[in-house]
Amino acid sequence: MQNIAWIDGTYRDLSKAKVSIEDRGYLLGDGVYEVIRVYNSRPFYLDAHLQRFLRSAEAIRLDLPYPVDRITETVSELIEKSGYSEGYIYMQLTRGSAKRDHLFPDDAVPTMVMYVRELKPVPEIDAVEPQEGITLPDERWLNCHIKTTNLLPNLLARQKASEAGAVEAILYRQDGTVTEGTRSNVFAVIDGKVRTHPATNLILAGITRGIVIDIIQELSIPFLEKPFNLQELETAEEVWVTSTTMEVNPIKAIDSRLLKSPVPGPICKQLMEAFHNKIAANCLEDVK
Ligand code: PDD
Repeated sequence: MQNIAWIDGTYRDLSKAKVSIEDRGYLLGDGVYEVIRVYNSRPFYLDAHLQRFLRSAEAIRLDLPYPVDRITETVSELIEKSGYSEGYIYMQLTRGSAKRDHLFPDDAVPTMVMYVRELKPVPEIDAVEPQEGITLPDERWLNCHIKTTNLLPNLLARQKASEAGAVEAILYRQDGTVTEGTRSNVFAVIDGKVRTHPATNLILAGITRGIVIDIIQELSIPFLEKPFNLQELETAEEVWVTSTTMEVNPIKAIDSRLLKSPVPGPICKQLMEAFHNKIAANCLEDVK
């Protein structure tokens, strides 16, 4: 079992994989990325991730240097070569290596890398430990729908959260509107309805968020894709965050204030169970 990287067509051990220090991803954060969960040696919702990768690349005026079919094949090869059953694929595209300049270089060839690392299997629902969140100002730019490698505001907030003993910082804009987490989307049950910020430029439209919204609709759970503010968050019966690596993760307290429901609350628990079923249907059963 091995961490394997792929750099523009060549496989290497991850520890030996290198790109130029003049790569614009490294110097300028001029790139986009994806993180895809692997369950039972199969990538989960790969097509949706690749569609978002395409949209992110297009938004920063980059063309994918490889056809989507080739990327899909490479993902399978990486998983196979690694020998990992549970893990994630990281995928990054930058504007390539060139003399440092804010202007886009004429001659740079984009750099595309992918690698695979191992993760623990998804825990049983009863073993998921509800965690704390803290609220922090959202200091990011106005193109949060692009999954860019420019993550400094996210990192600073995540670090603060961790130092406060919280798993995630729940971010809010100046007017008090809650947007998302530093690396996750945020859902809250307010007045009996599930709410989450709509997929605008202020959030990354998470693939997990999309799966959870599908489940909410399949189960006819009352739902509003409508922003909520800090005051409303204070009244929430349940809160959870979603992401590729955290799945559906219940939050038990925000800014040290415990939520009203036992955690995970009834709706969150239902979604966690249904999410496990989606994993089973897509990656465990012999359906594909
Ligand atoms: N983060 N919002 C932000 C800012 C994110 O960085 C992420 C994902 C999400 C959830 O998206 P998805 O459900 O597609 O994973 C929302 C990844 C996992 C990361 O940066 O590691």
